[in-house]
Amino acid sequence: MGGFTPRAAASLLLLLLLRSPSPSEPVAAAAAALRARRYDSIFGFGDSFTDTGNNPVVFAWYSVPNPVTRPPYGSTFFGHPTGRNCDGRLIIDFIAEGLGLPLVPPFLAHDGSFRRGANFAVGAATAIDAAFFHDGEPPGTDNKFPFNTSLGVQLQWFESLKPSLCATTQECKDFFGRSLFFLGELGFNDYSFSMNKGKNVQQLRSLVPHVIRTISMAIERLIKHGATSLLVSGMVPAGCDPPILTFFPSADPASYEPRTGCLKGMNELSTYHNSMLQESLDKIRSKHLDVEIGYADFFSPVMEMVKSPAKFGFEEDALTVCCGGPGRYHFSGVVVCGDPGSTTCKDPSARLFWDGAHLTEAANRYIADGWLRSISSPATATN
Ligand SMILES: *[C@@H]1O[C@H](CO)[C@@H](O)[C@H](O)[C@H]1NC(C)=O
Repeated sequence: MGGFTPRAAASLLLLLLLRSPSPSEPVAAAAAALRARRYDSIFGFGDSFTDTGNNPVVFAWYSVPNPVTRPPYGSTFFGHPTGRNCDGRLIIDFIAEGLGLPLVPPFLAHDGSFRRGANFAVGAATAIDAAFFHDGEPPGTDNKFPFNTSLGVQLQWFESLKPSLCATTQECKDFFGRSLFFLGELGFNDYSFSMNKGKNVQQLRSLVPHVIRTISMAIERLIKHGATSLLVSGMVPAGCDPPILTFFPSADPASYEPRTGCLKGMNELSTYHNSMLQESLDKIRSKHLDVEIGYADFFSPVMEMVKSPAKFGFEEDALTVCCGGPGRYHFSGVVVCGDPGSTTCKDPSARLFWDGAHLTEAANRYIADGWLRSISSPATATN
């Protein structure tokens, strides 16, 4: 992909982002148990797929221009930019609504109570600590991505908030026992930052165990703090991602899936990540029988929408983004959504992708509906 301009990096890290076998018995049981729960709060972690407004704060710390603070972000639902990488609501917003809870406030930007939850997710966050990607240099040096916002840092933020929510072990057990811990997508940025540094798909695959180990350790740490309900997202099909398709095209037609136009190798990376994540969740479940851990399949619903856009009311070319600059996918590393030269499609609800990696509110709603079916069913919930 040649030199990676800061601009292209900024739009790529707007990336924030498999298909699982049918649920095994323990998974089905865990889903059923989650379903019977009522929640008082949600604590969110992840990247731009989950960030409800932290990234403008972080990007300001590092003085990086941030397209998501400009229109048309937020135009479909909020009527103004909120820091979400979307025209409207994210999956975590629909989950909160579905559970009858307030939208989860961004930890770094919200000046109020976090008793109904807090969202620590940040756009461009990685699972693995940032220094790993800087060859030992401290994160943030020269405004280098990724910033100091990894999953481990988000956990530290959670731990700094905790004393304001509960004091004794029992109090924390009670409080977090009524919380849903939402681990949104993580991994996509770990892999894309590595791609930016010239790593090939084989080398990305060798990073998967490290990413999964990092996520698993975070889950164990949350369980120690008293988490008993977790929903853990897998990865989207990275090979269908418009920025990946734009920055890393292949000259060999055989690299693309004929039906979808997605890159096979990158989709296989997502599948590999997701199956390793599910194996790891199985292990954690078997160690903590009183903890319910749901796996949220992000890969299959996106694949479904890419394969059959019409079924979802989407226009034919599912890989074309709604808001962006010139280019085969209407995505450009030079003119990004919100730039003066960018254009926005007439009807975002007729598109799968919003500005590049990120999905439209319409797509998020569909995905959240599926995830909600696995965690909540207020009609049958016991109180
Ligand atoms: C990263 O953030 C964490 C949590 O705020 C902080 O403890 C740590 O010192 C930061 N690291 C760097 C290198 O800035």
